[in-house]
Amino acid sequence: MLEIARKFMEQLSAPFVGREEESRLITISLLTKEHVVLIGEPGTAKSAIARRAAELINAKFFMYLLTKYTEPAELFGALDINSLREGKYMRITKDRLPESEIAFLDEIFNANSAILNALLSLLNERVIYDGYNVIRTPLRTLIGASNRVPDEPELEALYDRILLRHNAKPVGEEMWRELLDAAWDIEFSTKWIIEKPMLTVEDVDNIYNKLREVDLSGIKSKLLKLYAILEEKGIHLSDRRKGKVLKVIAANAILNGRMKATEEDLVILKYVAPREIDDFEKVGALLSEELKTPIKYMKELNDIYNNIRDAERYVDSTAENDPRLVEMIRNLKATRERVISLGRESGDEKVVTFSEEVVKEVDELTEKVAKKLGIFP
Ligand SMILES: Nc1ncnc2c1ncn2[C@@H]1O[C@H](COP(=O)(O)OP(=O)(O)O)[C@@H](O)[C@H]1O
Ligand SMILES: [Mg+2]
Repeated sequence: MLEIARKFMEQLSAPFVGREEESRLITISLLTKEHVVLIGEPGTAKSAIARRAAELINAKFFMYLLTKYTEPAELFGALDINSLREGKYMRITKDRLPESEIAFLDEIFNANSAILNALLSLLNERVIYDGYNVIRTPLRTLIGASNRVPDEPELEALYDRILLRHNAKPVGEEMWRELLDAAWDIEFSTKWIIEKPMLTVEDVDNIYNKLREVDLSGIKSKLLKLYAILEEKGIHLSDRRKGKVLKVIAANAILNGRMKATEEDLVILKYVAPREIDDFEKVGALLSEELKTPIKYMKELNDIYNNIRDAERYVDSTAENDPRLVEMIRNLKATRERVISLGRESGDEKVVTFSEEVVKEVDELTEKVAKKLGIFP
């Protein structure tokens, strides 16, 4: 069941060039029932990927482009004249935002004050108060797009309620050729036509319910440390955002095929912490420095492995009464523990396998040194 989430993510980005991060983010927003906004210049496939997400899920979908002049009725449905004659104030919500399970609002930061309040309660509590009625809505996830981050104070509350944010950049020059073919295929080929949605809303809800089973015990201290570092660098997360990060981490672990979160999953802060456009790069750089990824684990293990090999040669050539041998035995014991904990911490199969190899190497060397010292037969 959990595998389907990963397949969904892969299918979502498949037609596009370099849209893997956007795809992961949209998938995570669906699994966590959170909202996401893609920020970037026009023509970076923001709308296209949001539309594809909706097509891949069998869900009620509402899509709208906001302008400064968008009226509440356009989103929430027109007033029902017949009811009004009977003195009842009701909206015809059919096929509108109040009935949607997934919504896409393009240029979301154009939201004017007439619709802003309704949007805030919709995002937070999944209800719309229109002055007379409380409409409960089935909304899971709202995907927004914009070419900017908002700087109007009145949009701050809206922006804060969108947990996941991403700066969608145009693809790099090395991908322009691929882009030609991909855009051609999107336009003319039938290969990306979705015959049948691959997920239902129930599937998404089931995975959501699995989030609570993800083991998060190993990453909390590190997460708190990262909060402190970010704060120190002037990047402040609201309490709402700080509190919600864990479920995003859990969803990322599931997408990586694990029911246990590892340090690697904390990269997801890259999508929660930034506020200003410059923050995206800043936070990304900070995290890649602070976080251990499988590659970093492999590198440290590899360094240890090479040191052990060097030490082996040294032991082979040195005298039996070399005083350094005693010290070496002690160091090897600490190294062994380090290697085991690196494997365990990483939560990555390949790293674990390699760490076991390194442990074997450590054990062999330990035996060799002991023999040389005549400690045991
Ligand atoms: N990374 C990409 N890979 C493939 N096609 C792309 C990519 N970026 C843009 N396109 C093409 O450009 C079109 C316009 O994208 P669109 O979703 O309207 O952009 P936005 O909503 O960001 O303004 C897409 O439908 C697609 O054909
Ligand atoms: Mg668009």
